[in-house]
Amino acid sequence: MTYEQQLEAIKQYSYSKMHQDSTGHNFDHIQRVINMVQKILKTEDADPSITLAAAYLHDVADDKLVADPAKLEADMKEFLHGIDFTDEQVAEVLFITHNISFSKSLSKNPPKLSLAGQIVQDADRLDAIGAIGITRAIYYGGANSETIYDPRIAPRQTMNKSEYRNLANETIINHFYEKLLKLTDMMNTPTAKLIAQKRHQYMLDFLDEFKAEWNTEK
Ligand code: ADP
Ligand code: NI
Repeated sequence: MTYEQQLEAIKQYSYSKMHQDSTGHNFDHIQRVINMVQKILKTEDADPSITLAAAYLHDVADDKLVADPAKLEADMKEFLHGIDFTDEQVAEVLFITHNISFSKSLSKNPPKLSLAGQIVQDADRLDAIGAIGITRAIYYGGANSETIYDPRIAPRQTMNKSEYRNLANETIINHFYEKLLKLTDMMNTPTAKLIAQKRHQYMLDFLDEFKAEWNTEK
């Protein structure tokens, strides 16, 4: 298989796994992450086939989305071998998809990502901030019956993994404080850092305006 054929097959596979998602992870998210990866790859010397494969597959086995992530990881392995990825390439791609999440970054021993992994992580995180990030948070919050805002909940600066998974006290606005506003300082590549700054400011402006409007309506 040529490189182009492999990429097309990965795209089709990703689409078949992601297009039904309704939590803000559908294939539009994947396509935006791919576009951002391609932009970052212009200034970073990472292996494009590993980076793009991991970007297409990064949410397929997300434990928030599927009941049995290990089964989907096994499925991805079989798929990648089927399109002639070597054992080493399969291992590299699966390591990235398994280790780029925010919760893994918060763990005591955060996994050390290759440059390809850092690029996919940056692209995924850029899609969680700015105007798109605001929209996705609202979309996700709605799909999970979150309250929009509760001024009695102090913005949480740190959360452990189990708290992070417990959405009981979560509000959409609080999600900005516990995650989205932290992402800018966690970007890996210079390109992503620059783009993140603009998107970060846009979220700060949004939160100021949101709270001003909330308080006027009392
Ligand atoms: P990804 O894996 O694509 O980085 P997540 O799986 O963490 O993203 O979440 C998908 C989208 O939903 C992201 O934009 C994220 O910010 C948003 N989101 C995740 N958890 C919450 C939450 N508790 N409240 C509101 N939005 C959320
Ligand atoms: Ni994602």
